[in-house]
Amino acid sequence: MKTIGFAVCGSFCTFDKVFEQIENLVAHGYKILPIMSENAWSLDTRFGRAADWRERFAELTGEPVIHTLPEAEPIGPKKLLDALVIAPATGNTLAKLAAGVTDTCVTLAAKAHLRNARPVLIAPSTNDGLTGAAKNIGALLNYKHVFFVPYGHDSYEKKPASLVAEFTLLPAALEAALENEQLRPVVITPK
Ligand SMILES: Cc1cc2nc3c(=O)[nH]c(=O)nc-3n(C[C@H](O)[C@H](O)[C@H](O)COP(=O)(O)O)c2cc1C
Repeated sequence: MKTIGFAVCGSFCTFDKVFEQIENLVAHGYKILPIMSENAWSLDTRFGRAADWRERFAELTGEPVIHTLPEAEPIGPKKLLDALVIAPATGNTLAKLAAGVTDTCVTLAAKAHLRNARPVLIAPSTNDGLTGAAKNIGALLNYKHVFFVPYGHDSYEKKPASLVAEFTLLPAALEAALENEQLRPVVITPK
């Protein structure tokens, strides 16, 4: 059985779609280690209460949710994961990953896991995907062991620079990443 770290960041509007895919991965027999960024863990928003999301995540996976640096650190030395999924990945987390900043439990989980040369799969969701975050996505596309869930414009007329992953492709992108392959096409029109 493959063990997958699943790290949720603060793109709250995508949580419904992302949690559907977490359920899907559990149904496919993956063991999921849940991780939430400090913001995803703690912020109540118009998309739901933080406590409800964290309870749902723990219940779905049967594991306590990792949400601090000390909880994330052993992922590397203990080789806990076959792959790490970051979904949704915010513009903030993409910037930190691209720059090697590791001051959140998600970015530390990625650093810890990458030291084992195992795959990280990123599902971006950010309104500045084609502006401020574009350079970071570009940098990450060129990183070893980093793969993307296919993504594209979500609403190009209202939000010209916004990019979002097609979350229904997450399981297929994960299967590919576990084989060190990028699911293609990478750039698509999300449904
Ligand atoms: C209601 C709400 C929705 C947000 N949606 C997004 C989003 O879709 N994409 C994004 O990049 N940031 C979004 N943000 C901003 C991030 O939550 C913020 O940049 C935060 O610092 C991200 O931290 P994290 O990357 O550690 O989770 C949103 C914030 C709020 C309060």
